[in-house]
Parts: sequence; C-alpha cells; structure tokens
Amino acid sequence: MQVQNLKTQITTLIDSDFLVEKKLQAICNYLKSEIAYYDWVGFYFKNGNKNELKLAQYAGEPTDHIIIPFGKGICGQVAVSNNNFVVQDVSEQENYISCGWKVKSEIVFPIFVNEKNVGQIDIDSHTVNPFTEKDEELLEFICAKVSQILA
Ligand code: SME
Repeated sequence: MQVQNLKTQITTLIDSDFLVEKKLQAICNYLKSEIAYYDWVGFYFKNGNKNELKLAQYAGEPTDHIIIPFGKGICGQVAVSNNNFVVQDVSEQENYISCGWKVKSEIVFPIFVNEKNVGQIDIDSHTVNPFTEKDEELLEFICAKVSQILA
C-alpha cells in the first residue's frame, strides 16, 4: 500500500470545492477502487440525538444495515468505546452484524469533532487477516481530515 500517495489523493479530495457529501462519497469510491482488499467502504454517523448510527455514503454492495444501535456489532461497539476496532477474522467475533457470507474481516475507525465521537469509517474485506499498520495509519489520517470538514 502506497500510504503517502493515498494520503495525497485524499487531501486533494478533501480540499476540493465539492460539497461535504460528495467528498465523502468520493473517498469511499477512491478507497474501494485503489485498495484491492477493501470490498465495502462506508461512513456511519450518529443519527440525530438517538443512540444509533445511520449509514451515510458508501461504495460496494447495498447493505440492510442502515441503522445500527449503539453497542451492536463492530460499528455499534466503536460508537461507545471511541476506539479503533480491527477485526482480522469476523468469525471470531460474537458481537458482529454480518453483511453477507463473503465478508471475512472488518476495520472501523471513529471520527471525532470537538472530541465527540460523531461517526466512523467502516471497511469490510473478503480477505482474512488483510490489515496492517499501514491501513491504520491511512484510516487515522482520513478520519482526522474528515473531522475538519465536518466541524
Ligand atoms: N459488520 C458491521 C455492520 C455494518 S456492515 O459491515 C456494512 C458490524 O458488525 O457492525
């Protein structure tokens, strides 16, 4: 993974004149097309004042999981823990919401605005054990950049 090049491209997208929604969609599309083992890339955000997440922009197959209650699944756990969650093998997770048998691993990073957890980026992969420190570096960078345009 060419982290530096990916960061540069993401920065160009973030600094573009697009509306926020279009930037987030472009990030999803870009990551899915550039990284072979990123099979689904999406953003979930806190749904108003409810303790649940709502799906926003995504790239990949449509999912039934538009709304995810806090605490449920990998996404719902990140909404309450405020921590990155790297799942190299979803079959080892009990609190997991399946988006289909093809998904083998998942990585979720929270997005903070003014120190509040407002949402997250969620990536599903059809490969077991695909994620490295480079993914974590890239996704932390993206979450920080997205935080700036949401603030
Ligand atoms: N697998 C997630 C649900 C969302 S989908 O991956 C799009 C979870 O366990 O929270």
